[in-house]
Amino acid sequence: MTEKEKQLHEAAYEAVEKNKSTVEGDPYRQAYHLMPPAGLLNDPNGWIQWKGTYHMFFQWNPFSPDHTHKFWGHFTSDDLIEWKEEPIALAPSEWYEKNGCYSGSAIELDDKLALIYTGNVKDENNNREAYQCVAASEDGVHFEKQGPVVDTLPEGYTADFRDPKVWKENGRYYFVIGAKTTEKKGQVLLYRSDDFKKWELVGPLAGSGLNGLGPFGYMWECPDLFSLNEKEVLIVSPQGLEKQGRHFENTYQAGYFLGNADLEKASYSHGEFRELDQGFEFYAPQTTVDKEGRRILFGWMGVPDSDEEFQPTVGHQWIHCLTIPRIITVDGDKIRQEPAKELENLRVEEALELRVDTAKGAEVVITEASEMVIDTAQAEDLYLTFRNEASFFYDASEKLVTFTRPRFRDGEIETRQCHLDTLERLHIFMDYSSLEIFMNNGETVMTSRFFPNPADNTVEISGNAGSITWKSWELK
Ligand code: FRU
Repeated sequence: MTEKEKQLHEAAYEAVEKNKSTVEGDPYRQAYHLMPPAGLLNDPNGWIQWKGTYHMFFQWNPFSPDHTHKFWGHFTSDDLIEWKEEPIALAPSEWYEKNGCYSGSAIELDDKLALIYTGNVKDENNNREAYQCVAASEDGVHFEKQGPVVDTLPEGYTADFRDPKVWKENGRYYFVIGAKTTEKKGQVLLYRSDDFKKWELVGPLAGSGLNGLGPFGYMWECPDLFSLNEKEVLIVSPQGLEKQGRHFENTYQAGYFLGNADLEKASYSHGEFRELDQGFEFYAPQTTVDKEGRRILFGWMGVPDSDEEFQPTVGHQWIHCLTIPRIITVDGDKIRQEPAKELENLRVEEALELRVDTAKGAEVVITEASEMVIDTAQAEDLYLTFRNEASFFYDASEKLVTFTRPRFRDGEIETRQCHLDTLERLHIFMDYSSLEIFMNNGETVMTSRFFPNPADNTVEISGNAGSITWKSWELK
C-alpha cells in the first residue's frame, strides 16, 4: 500500500470508529440488508462469485452520509446470508481517481480478482476527466492498482463516461460503459480487448437516438449486458427521462431492454425499455452469474438527487443499503425477479400461518425484520398497511397497485403505481426501514425505504379479496 492509501484508509476507519455508536444506536439499522458501516453507500460494484466466495463491493463515503467522497467498500459471503466486512478495496489515492473511485465491475484475470472502475477527476473549475482503471488482487482482499487502461474519450462524447461492466466471451474481454454525447444524449458504448491492457472501442451499442430509440435521457449510467435465456439483456440507469403516466416517476430510472446483440459490430436490436422496479428506491443494479448458473441481481436501494438528506438515518451518520439478492430470468418479453432461495435461511422460527377474511380485516403483529407470503383466493381489492406508515393497495377493477408512504422531506403522502392484471401472490421482505414487494412470483417488484415509528410492528389487512392465506417468518 502506498503512503497516501494508508493515510486514506486510516482516516476512513477513524471516521467509522468515531460514528460507530451513533450509527449503531439507530432504530432504522437493517437486520439483513447490506449497509455501510457508517457514511453513505450507493451503487453495488464488482459483484462476482470468485473461487467460491461471493464478493460485493460498493460505492462508499466512509466520512459522512453524503456523496463527497467515493471509496470501494467490500463484503464477502459464502452463502449470500452471512456477510463479512472486508478492508477497504479502493481508496481515491492516485491522480487518476482523485475525486473518487467510481463504479465498476470484477472479473477473474490470470487467477487474480481484477476490478475495472472509473477514476473520476475534477479540476479547480469542476471540469471532469474520466479514466477507466484496473486493480487486481491475489487473495481477493488486498488490491494493487495498475492505473488507467482507457484514458481518452471517444470523439463526440463528454467526460460523463463511467461504470465499465466487464465480461469474457469467446476468448475476448468486453466492457459496456455509460456515456453522454456532447449533444447530451445518454448512450452505452462497447469496448473490447484481447489482453485486458489495450482496449478498443467497438462502437455505441444503445442509447438516445440509436436503434430506433428517440430521445431517451441525457446520460446512461451503470450498464450491464449479458445473455439470458437466449436474449441479450441490457440493464441501464438512464437519467433525464420525463415522467410518463405511471412510469419514470423517480428522479432517475433503472430498467432493461431485451434484444439481440452482435458484439463484433456493436449492434443491438431491442424492444422497449422497462423499469425493473416500480417502488421509490431502486437504482444502478448490477448482476453476475454464480457457479450454479444463476443470474443474480443486487440494486442500490436509493436514487441519486432524491432528497437523500431528508432520510432520518442521516442524523445517525449513515444512509442507504442494497436490496436483497434477486434471481432474474427472462419470461416472454419481460424479466422476472425472485428472491434468492438462500434467504429462507434467514428465517428464525416456524412460520406464523393464518387465514384472513379480508372483508372482516385483521391486524397481525410481526417483527420488524419479516418475510411474508400472501396468497389471494380471488383477485379482488386488497389493502395492507405496514407499521402504520406505508400502504399497498390492489384495486382489482382498475388492475392497479398503489403504494404510499410519507415523503421524507415533509411528510406529505406520495405514491407509486403500477399495472397488474391479477394479484395472486405477494412475497414481501420487510426490514427495519425497507419493504421489497414481489408480486406474482416476481412479475413486478416495488422496493422502498420507509421509516415507521420504531414501536409500531403491525400489518393491517383489509379488502374484498375473500379469505387469503398468510404466512410470515421472523428473519435474522
Ligand atoms: C450511479 C453513479 C455512477 C457513478 C457512481 C458514483 O449512482 O452516479 O454513475 O460511477 O454513482 O458514486
